[in-house]
Amino acid sequence: MTRLPLSVSLMVLFGLVVLLPATGRAADDGAGLYKTYCVTCHGETGKGDGVAGAALNPKPADLSKEEFWKSRDDAAIKKVIKEGGAAVGKSPLMVAWGAVLDDAKIEAVLKHLKTFKGK
Ligand code: HEC
Repeated sequence: MTRLPLSVSLMVLFGLVVLLPATGRAADDGAGLYKTYCVTCHGETGKGDGVAGAALNPKPADLSKEEFWKSRDDAAIKKVIKEGGAAVGKSPLMVAWGAVLDDAKIEAVLKHLKTFKGK
């Protein structure tokens, strides 16, 4: 049996220790997902004032408003995220994220959206 040089073994070990937890974290982190996929239109605090969002018509809904959360339940919001605005009669510029985000990630993003309430 050939033995791997110690430096190679250490590199592999380092990779496993550092990279595995990092990918796990990125997957469930709603704030990180929001920053990656949503912030350009929806803005840092969900007001719809992201660099791209400001130019949209209609603008993304203001997610900091109580009215928004009172008039929609979780299922409706998850549907828009998964299937896109066009699927519920809203702007097609709100694209469907179902191909990028699985249900667990959509749940995590929704949780993050709720932190905008009242901000
Ligand atoms: C290209 C710009 C853009 C991106 C990127 C984007 N959205 Fe939107 N979003 C919109 C627009 C425009 C609307 C408003 C649609 C309307 O009211 O007709 C909207 C609406 C919404 C709504 C409100 C739907 C409702 O019931 O009124 C939610 C929730 C939402 N987006 C979540 C997300 C999430 C989560 C992401 C990231 C995964 C995301 N959006 C990425 C443009 C975008």
